[in-house]
Amino acid sequence: MEQTFLMIKPDAVQRNLIGEIIARFERKGFKLVAAKLMTISEPLAKQHYAEHKGKPFFNDLVSFITSGPVFAMVWQGENVIESSRKMMGKTNPQEAETGTIRGDFGIVTHRNIIHGSDSSESAGREINLYFSKEEIQSYEKNV
Ligand code: CMP
Repeated sequence: MEQTFLMIKPDAVQRNLIGEIIARFERKGFKLVAAKLMTISEPLAKQHYAEHKGKPFFNDLVSFITSGPVFAMVWQGENVIESSRKMMGKTNPQEAETGTIRGDFGIVTHRNIIHGSDSSESAGREINLYFSKEEIQSYEKNV
């Protein structure tokens, strides 16, 4: 079954939005299979955002994502990568539709509430960056 990496960013953790965001993915029907509240080190942040190295916002991105705890998660379900991107909304919260997470809770791109993998390759890479195999749970969800 498809899995994706989602991360509630420091702005949303500080605004007590963890429960609100998790509830949306639970209600949708996806299954939470791993989660941890953690502070990202600078090397991990640089690895995570390696594709943005050299861009004008790279240093700000690294300092923001390491500025406080994030809530890192692995979610599982059919088409979860694309569906969760739709639920998050566009990167710039001002362009994100109302009803999406960024559209409802964000204002600016550099504090956009949540990160989600954009392809199966990045999902695999990001899950491995944050979680060991033993930390990812396997359980039935029949209700
Ligand atoms: P995220 O989905 O975590 O992936 C890369 C991040 O870079 C993105 O969310 C934004 O938070 C950030 N980002 C993208 N473009 C800009 C920009 N122009 N200025 C600041 N941050 C940006």
